[in-house]
Amino acid sequence: MRENEKRGVAIVTGATGGMGAPAVKRLAAQGWPLILCDIDETRLELMASLIREVGLQVDILAGDMAERGFPDRLIAAIGERQVGALIHTAGLSPTMGDPARILAVNYDATVRLVDAVRPRMAAGSCAVLVASMAGHQMHSPEIDAAIDALGTSDDSSPLLNIAMMPEIAYGVSKRGVQRIVEREAKAFGERGARIASISPGLIDTPMGRAEKAAQPLMENILQMTPLGRYGVGDEIASVAVFLCSPDASYVSGCDIKVDGGVMAAMRG
Ligand SMILES: NC(=O)c1ccc[n+]([C@@H]2O[C@H](COP(=O)([O-])OP(=O)(O)OC[C@H]3O[C@@H](n4cnc5c(N)ncnc54)[C@H](O)[C@@H]3O)[C@@H](O)[C@H]2O)c1
Repeated sequence: MRENEKRGVAIVTGATGGMGAPAVKRLAAQGWPLILCDIDETRLELMASLIREVGLQVDILAGDMAERGFPDRLIAAIGERQVGALIHTAGLSPTMGDPARILAVNYDATVRLVDAVRPRMAAGSCAVLVASMAGHQMHSPEIDAAIDALGTSDDSSPLLNIAMMPEIAYGVSKRGVQRIVEREAKAFGERGARIASISPGLIDTPMGRAEKAAQPLMENILQMTPLGRYGVGDEIASVAVFLCSPDASYVSGCDIKVDGGVMAAMRG
């Protein structure tokens, strides 16, 4: 039995996306049995067939993660196994939906995903949730209070009062993801498991390119980025896979900025 098989299965959401696909590649190279989730069934099937060719076990779960039935389907796919790693990248950017849909996919579906996997997390495992630098920009006592008032509810519609525009809804949803990590660390720790988020800056993925085309502000953010360039999806995947490894065994309940230094630069 391979070492990673002893720790269970690795789940990647948004598996065919700009960050998800390199995460899958890295986990496959480590020999993890995989469950791959994405709304795009065709791309999932193709990815799974390539992985099976190298002899790895892979299950796919196609569909909308925001659907209420998704967690039950995921639990069925996990079966008797434990979860050794979760890398949750599926999400919508401001140009991809209205405020309600952005909150439903980025926040509500994440609450349900974490609820579903928590009891199945193996000792030593980690859940990595992809947030955003937009979550840091939305960090204020008022917004945190509004998010915290939701408690553990998976219905973030009360936040629509403060998140009436897609850009705000996106930032609030990602601040919400960072708050999920902070409040879940204790329960994960009781299982010997960890949970952390990653907040990317500008990343050259299909989503990053769509935002660049739609929002002139992205050019200003690029100009402010100390590293002076977009990141690539694998620069997020490498940190996510590190977090899921024993090398990160004392990292939990925190957010890691992988943003070329831009958040630090914005604070002056
Ligand atoms: N690209 C950036 O510049 C950037 C910056 C900050 C944060 N992020 C965050 O990083 C994460 C990954 O983004 P990316 O750049 O890889 O985007 P991407 O669009 O390349 O990939 C996202 C993947 O998620 C899937 N997906 C979307 N909605 C889904 C749903 N409802 N159910 C199931 N699957 C769904 C898509 O099919 C896609 O494969 C997102 O959560 C995003 O908000 C991206």
